[in-house]
Amino acid sequence: MAQSLKPFISERRLRARVRAMGRAIRADYRARDLVLVGILKGSFVFMADLARAIDLPLTCDFLRVSSYGSDTASSGRIRMEFDLSHPVKGKDVLLVEDIVDTGWTLDHVLREIRRKKPASLRLAALLHKPSRTRVDVPIDYLGFTIPDRFVVGYGLDFDGRYRNLRHLAVLSA
Ligand code: IMP
Ligand code: MG
Repeated sequence: MAQSLKPFISERRLRARVRAMGRAIRADYRARDLVLVGILKGSFVFMADLARAIDLPLTCDFLRVSSYGSDTASSGRIRMEFDLSHPVKGKDVLLVEDIVDTGWTLDHVLREIRRKKPASLRLAALLHKPSRTRVDVPIDYLGFTIPDRFVVGYGLDFDGRYRNLRHLAVLSA
């Protein structure tokens, strides 16, 4: 099956938006104990750029979840594949996610992390598809609101591919 990639959000727009998010986060987290927690795999490119856009001391950790389902839609059944490597009790956790689609993944992860008793817990998401929301999750720092299209690049994949594109593209069959 031939797939086509249509340019959607350019590398330049991504860079400008991520830098602005970094400045907003910096203003809110002065003198806090900030831990960025990236949700693998999709967040790794965004997380690398966002971390470097936050001019504050911080640490980074990752967790991995998977949802059973097809390649382009999550099923709502979420499983933690691996967890944080350090305790976040008493720390200011900022979750970093590539995209909030149905919201099921984040809803699950937020509940899991809250049980670890961080001092605070917020969410930074690069993309939000509000038309597909099934569970409302509060996004404290948002890159872009997008329509219901399947996007790839900048960490986001289809069937494991396209994560290394420097821009975001819409994938269509
Ligand atoms: P949710 O649980 O439906 O919010 O699913 C979020 C996850 O589905 C994201 O972390 C992505 O891995 C994946 N996902 C949702 N929409 C897209 C998309 O447009 N492109 C690539 N992955 C997507
Ligand atoms: Mg993901």
